[in-house]
Amino acid sequence: MSEDKNTLPETARGGPIARFMALPTDSVAKTLFVAVTLCLVASMIVSAAAVALRPTQEINALKDKQINILQVAGIYDPEKDVLDSFAAFEPHVLELSTGAFTQEFDAASFDDRAAADDPATSIALEDDPAGIVRQGKYVTVYLLRDDAGEIDKLIMPLHGYGLWSTLYGFIALEENGNDIFGLQFYDHAETPGLGAEVDNPRWKALWNGKRLSDEDGTLQISVTKAAPAAGKDYHIDALAGATLTTNGVHNLVRFWMGEAGYGPFLDTLKAGDVQ
Ligand SMILES: Cc1cc2nc3c(=O)[nH]c(=O)nc-3n(C[C@H](O)[C@H](O)[C@H](O)COP(=O)(O)O)c2cc1C
Repeated sequence: MSEDKNTLPETARGGPIARFMALPTDSVAKTLFVAVTLCLVASMIVSAAAVALRPTQEINALKDKQINILQVAGIYDPEKDVLDSFAAFEPHVLELSTGAFTQEFDAASFDDRAAADDPATSIALEDDPAGIVRQGKYVTVYLLRDDAGEIDKLIMPLHGYGLWSTLYGFIALEENGNDIFGLQFYDHAETPGLGAEVDNPRWKALWNGKRLSDEDGTLQISVTKAAPAAGKDYHIDALAGATLTTNGVHNLVRFWMGEAGYGPFLDTLKAGDVQ
């Protein structure tokens, strides 16, 4: 008498799982199954890690930006807590077109990059020498005051296209709004040893003491191979072997320091109207 098939274990009944299990280990089906399962498990682990680490990455990115602002202002001390040191700055959201600070946004949390992407807070550029496509109407600038409460330095964000990437950085100006204290980028993807030499401390040091505009108020700053007629006070040597990144830096600095950028703000400052 034959046994009822339903009472037999699955392997004996010959169901799909049993048939799969019975296949040789090196069969195509088993190999594919193991490969797909491994991919799924690995992608789940990577996704979970990405989600779990996102808040930490955001905190680190913010900290890195704050360190860069401290560095460009010349007050970074690795021994000190970044947040404590950063408290020295007075952030303001600046309306570029008027050159005046606005209270419309919270300066401590205003996101310049998000604002530059949002059509409500940015404009599409027709004349776009910095290659940024859209420009935020508002940016966060940082004032550093001396012990007497007078403005000592101004730190302003700027960005523009190099050869491979958009370079994001800060320029620090002296209180007169014309003498450069420093410039540095905190985010770019130019080639190490070529365009990435924008991060070379020796090249960055060349910016200290240079001037933006001449006595007549004409913007003269340049980053080129040869110094133009305005002279070396307004000139930073190009990076060797990286003329294209250098052109990007030249264009972005002139764009942001000109009328479409911080021009109105610097005029307000020079008129003594920024307190
Ligand atoms: C793989 C590769 C990466 C390069 N990266 C850069 C770069 O990041 N910035 C740059 O200006 N030029 C870069 N260049 C060189 C440019 O193509 C170009 O030759 C250079 O900007 C010219 O500079 P020069 O006139 O000072 O020689 C790169 C070239 C190669 C082959």
